[in-house]
Amino acid sequence: MPDMGAHVTRRRVEITRFHGMLTASPIMLEMFELLRRVARTEASILIRGETGTGKELVARAVHALSGRADGPFRALNCATLTPEMLASELFGHVRGAFTGAVKDRPGLFALADTGTLFLDEVAEIPVDIQARLLRVLQEHSFVPVGAIEPARVDVRLVAATHRSLRAAVEASQFRADLMYRIRVVPLFLPALRDRPGDIEALAWHFIDHFNGDELRRVEAVSEETMRALLEYRWPGNVRELRNVLEYAFAVGQGPVLTVDELTPELRGERPPEPAERSQLTARDLERERIIEALNKAGGRKGDAAELLGISRSTLWRKLREHRLSGPPR
Ligand SMILES: Nc1ncnc2c1ncn2[C@@H]1O[C@H](COP(=O)(O)OP(=O)(O)OP(=O)(O)O)[C@@H](O)[C@H]1O
Ligand SMILES: [Mg+2]
Repeated sequence: MPDMGAHVTRRRVEITRFHGMLTASPIMLEMFELLRRVARTEASILIRGETGTGKELVARAVHALSGRADGPFRALNCATLTPEMLASELFGHVRGAFTGAVKDRPGLFALADTGTLFLDEVAEIPVDIQARLLRVLQEHSFVPVGAIEPARVDVRLVAATHRSLRAAVEASQFRADLMYRIRVVPLFLPALRDRPGDIEALAWHFIDHFNGDELRRVEAVSEETMRALLEYRWPGNVRELRNVLEYAFAVGQGPVLTVDELTPELRGERPPEPAERSQLTARDLERERIIEALNKAGGRKGDAAELLGISRSTLWRKLREHRLSGPPR
């Protein structure tokens, strides 16, 4: 049997599941708590988070936990449509409103009546449509394109953005009054790299998922692979992690996920070290590695020792040597 090198199997960490989201990270648990509380109100929520952090899952959770759960949930990505299409999607149109409008078409405000409307990439809405959106939120009624009579509507708005709405306001791309309307409760969704424990927990979650396809059964991950997963910045967040594992399942085989099965970005050369780093002593580097491992292990010394490939007692000794050992935790 070929030597596969050292590998890691699943650690026993506490995992919380919440409306399709999974986490091992306290910062996410706090967010879930806040979400549970605000979902019951009628307040407009603005979710801010990088791409792939789970903004749509959060919006769905708000709906499911609200008094509107039995009503419809509708979602729209505002960044992908022309202004004309966006207006027609949101407010609908009547027959003959423009060439090609051969019959009445209800917009999302009508379709989401008594439920929740999720507007993704809300910062990308053109200014003239922002004015119409504001009017709907203030007056609880809207006029479909080409219609004369306003229609009443009862919709709770949840919006999301990957960039700062305040910055968009400052750049005169977004109306301040609309920002205050839709950002009654701002929810910040941290990037995957900022959720201690989640890269590993979600990696195993997706491994379980793809094991279910029965094309391949992964039981362990090589140490090098786990290190690469933990060190990568994940600009595409949870979606990217899922895609990377799907790729590994597709190109690789056997029970151990190896580093050559990762996508090129993850295997990529690390950026060249800045010049001053070459002045660092071996001792400084060791200290840095220990701090990094402790961070990755969320402060758990046993896990940090495992990451470093040293025993717990060696880690304790090194913590004392580097004056890193605080009071017992
Ligand atoms: N905590 C989580 N646990 C499990 N799966 C998750 C989690 N967060 C996100 N996902 C999954 O990651 C993918 C991206 O999530 P989602 O579409 O909600 O992100 P998003 O923030 O709306 O992304 P975008 O900015 O690109 O619209 C989905 O497949 C979702 O199911
Ligand atoms: Mg989305």
